[in-house]
Amino acid sequence: MGNVFTSISEILGGKKTGEVAIRGWVYRKRSSGGMHFVVVRDSTGVIQCAVKKDVVDAKSFENAEKVFIESSVIVNGEVKEDNRAPGGYEIQAKQFELVHLGEAFPIAKDQSVEFLLDTRHLWLRSQKLTNIMKARDYIVRYLREFFYNKGFRELSPPIITRAGCEGGSTLFKLDYFGKEAYLTQSGQLYNEAFITAFEKVFILAPSFRAEQSRTVRHLCEYWHLEPEMAWYSQEDNMKLQEEMVEEVCQRMASEHADLLKELGLEPDRLKKVKAPFPRIDYEELIPKMHELGFKKFKWGDDLGSDEEAALTKELEKPIFIHNFPKGMKAFYMREDPEKPGTVLASDLQAPGGHGELIGGSERIWEMDELLARMREEKLRIEDYQWYVDLRRYGSVPHSGFGLGIERLVKWMLNLDHIRDAIPFPRVINRVYP
Ligand code: 4AD
Ligand code: MG
Repeated sequence: MGNVFTSISEILGGKKTGEVAIRGWVYRKRSSGGMHFVVVRDSTGVIQCAVKKDVVDAKSFENAEKVFIESSVIVNGEVKEDNRAPGGYEIQAKQFELVHLGEAFPIAKDQSVEFLLDTRHLWLRSQKLTNIMKARDYIVRYLREFFYNKGFRELSPPIITRAGCEGGSTLFKLDYFGKEAYLTQSGQLYNEAFITAFEKVFILAPSFRAEQSRTVRHLCEYWHLEPEMAWYSQEDNMKLQEEMVEEVCQRMASEHADLLKELGLEPDRLKKVKAPFPRIDYEELIPKMHELGFKKFKWGDDLGSDEEAALTKELEKPIFIHNFPKGMKAFYMREDPEKPGTVLASDLQAPGGHGELIGGSERIWEMDELLARMREEKLRIEDYQWYVDLRRYGSVPHSGFGLGIERLVKWMLNLDHIRDAIPFPRVINRVYP
């Protein structure tokens, strides 16, 4: 393949005229008289190729005649500006070569959700999923850049661990050469070891939760962005979160408005996401929930999806809920000295009922306090000895948070279901393909 290939976006951008060679996959096809109009897609765009009987050789014409949707092809021809063609340009083919004819593509219009999930490996080629995954890629880049620009380092935590981080009920157990181990729920505890060397670190790694229920916002495997910062208070922590969310939304709206529009979204929706975000103390949440019609909501109750939807329905930006009762939250969260019985922690709830985007807290950094709390929670301290040890040598106040990438993508792109925010979703009834 000695040819130099042109990307379709270069042609559509008017940067390439005259003779070109493109390669890609058949996106659509129609025929009339002695012509085949084959729309070809590559990773940058789609363009129509006109294959005319009296212009191309017999083999090329036959190839264009028999291609299936998604056959892979190489087209040589002349670029022509043509207002009737989608995108304003078309290629008048001189040669139409088959790389792989393949078989008839199994996905057509109006297929069931289950069928599309079974053929996810093929469905990923669709415009919709391609656009979502492009947006996801930008979102992840912007997040990384945000942290690099603030002097954070990225490190990698272990995925197999003996230390549950977020309670026993969602742990995936595995047999580690005869010992019980788990797929990690969060890299946070390891992150807390990193900060004594690096001060500001983040990890971006998969987390696992054996979620027993089917919801539109839970995955069993999701990508977890977890920053951890030495010397940060919970107040600093919340400021960092809102600055991060603001930046990602602003950059998406200004740098990728076209992509958002292709996804049927109004970029202004993200433009409105500016810090500071509203905050509500858990204590104030109780009368608020009563006002919203959840009369039974009481101290210690968690928000269900109906409650979350009611609370965030009218909002334009996310809202922090903070100072939860200690008993509701994980063992490592520091009690608020000014509000005993509550922890220095916050959940960031997305607008429009998309659910919790971020959970964060100031960590207990004194050993006695941590041990007392672990005993209260009946944790097997031997499995966490190393974590306790971090409080033995030069412990410092610190805070951090965890953001579910797919939750952020779901909200930013206003998706109905979290499974479309990840290429191969893992949920309770699906581990294939
Ligand atoms: O609130 P969580 O459980 O907090 C932690 O794991 C902390 N250790 C994080 C930290 O402080 N470093 O999870 C954090 C976030 C949630 O806010 C949510 O966005 C996402 O992870 N998340 C899920 N996303 C998809 N599917 C699930 N089953 C999720 N569970 C949590
Ligand atoms: Mg949480």
